This record gives sequence, C-alpha cells and structure tokens, in this order.
Amino acid sequence: MHIIKLDATESTNDFLKSYASGSPVRNYTVVTAQSQTRGRGQMGAKWVSESGKNLIMSILVKDYILDPARVFDLNIIVSMAVFQSIEVFGIAALAIKWPNDIMADNKKIGGILIENIIKGDGAILSVAGIGLNVNQTNFDGLPRASSLAAILGREFDPDRLAIAISERIQQLIELGQTAVLKDNYTAKLFRKDHPTAFESDGATFMGMIRGVDDIGKLLVELENGSVKAFDLKQIAMRY
Ligand code: BTN
Repeated sequence: MHIIKLDATESTNDFLKSYASGSPVRNYTVVTAQSQTRGRGQMGAKWVSESGKNLIMSILVKDYILDPARVFDLNIIVSMAVFQSIEVFGIAALAIKWPNDIMADNKKIGGILIENIIKGDGAILSVAGIGLNVNQTNFDGLPRASSLAAILGREFDPDRLAIAISERIQQLIELGQTAVLKDNYTAKLFRKDHPTAFESDGATFMGMIRGVDDIGKLLVELENGSVKAFDLKQIAMRY
C-alpha cells in the first residue's frame, strides 16, 4: 500500500484528486495529514479536527464505480471498513448514521466524504475521505461530537488506524460480497427500528428506519404503515 503522509494540506480529498488526475497513481493510494486548512464534510459543511490528534485520510479507489448503481455500494464498503476496524475496541452502541456517519451512542466520532472524478481517458476515480476523531478529547461547542479516546479512556495510533481501514477497504472490494455487506450495513444503522423524529420539507414527522434501497435512499416506515424513500437532501433526523 502506498501512503503519502502530509503535515498540513487544504483537504486530503482535494490533494488526492489533483494528484491522481495529473499522473498515473496506484489503486488504494492513501493520503494522510496531521491537519487540514479547508477540511470538507457532507453537503458543504466544514470538517474541523484538532491538529495531530485524529485520523484524516483519503484513499483512491480506481474504477470501482462503473455504473451509478455502485456509488452507494462504495459508501457501504467504506462505512463498514471504518466500522469493522474500530468495533474490535469494544465501543458501546457503535452504529452508522445513514448514510455514513460513524456514531458511538448518540455522538458522532467519524464522517466520510466520497467524491468521484472522470478522467479524460474515461477512467473513474473515487476518492474516499475519512475523518475519525481519535485522540481529541476537547469538543467545546460540539456537544454531539466525541472520539475513541474520550469514550475508551486511552489513546490510539491514527497511522495504524489508517492502515487497518485502507486494508479493510481493499479486502471488502476484492471480496465483492455486496449483498451480504449491505445486510450488515443495514443491521448497523443508527436508530434502525426505533421510533424517530424526522424533518422533511419543513414538516416534522415520526417514522422508523427500515433500511436503504438499491440506490442508497433511506427507507422510512411512516405512521400510516407505508414506507417512503428519502435522499440525503430530503430528510434530516432529529435525535
Ligand atoms: C462528514 O461527516 O460530513 C464527512 C467528513 C469527512 C472528513 C474527511 S477528513 C479527510 C477528508 N478530507 C476532507 O476534506 N474531508 C474528508
């Protein structure tokens, strides 16, 4: 595995995207950084991480997404790779908040941002960025955030986690058991089968997460018993 370790960069996703679009780069090349000046999260959010404390990484996945239906499969693979790499530490109530937040109880400890680029020669490159709070214990102003160290009371090596997660991503892609993996992912969904408040189009309603559909929309059972599919921009969970 080829790992590029940076001290600081704007965003490891941006670094890896421009690095890989310029020259031929090996599949599963990993970029890590101690800090980012413009770390990015889902839906235009910022990703803030205390310098040197956490895992900040991006990994290149070449030609996995050959048709749009596989976009969500890669999301499942990366989410499950992070989940499986840290579940061995014995974190209580570890879960995946749809589509890809890593939760410990009701606190977020990690997030994933996958971006795809199509090269001039038609190759599709996916860059999966992972931010995992590892040794940061001060989350002033972020009551919904936590870390491995805050939960488990000991420190972890972010570099080793980067290797474990990258190897797991490669393994899961090579195994190719997408259906089994999707079942495992669904079973780990945060608040699955629990009555939960949601907001959509300015309205609040109660529902129960039942799973995801083939393109990754969240399936929510409504109070009238019907099941509706929502995409990320359509629904927010209130918890
Ligand atoms: C989210 O939960 O909103 C996704 C957060 C993703 C953060 C990671 S940190 C490494 C990579 N570089 C970025 O700029 N973002 C991702």
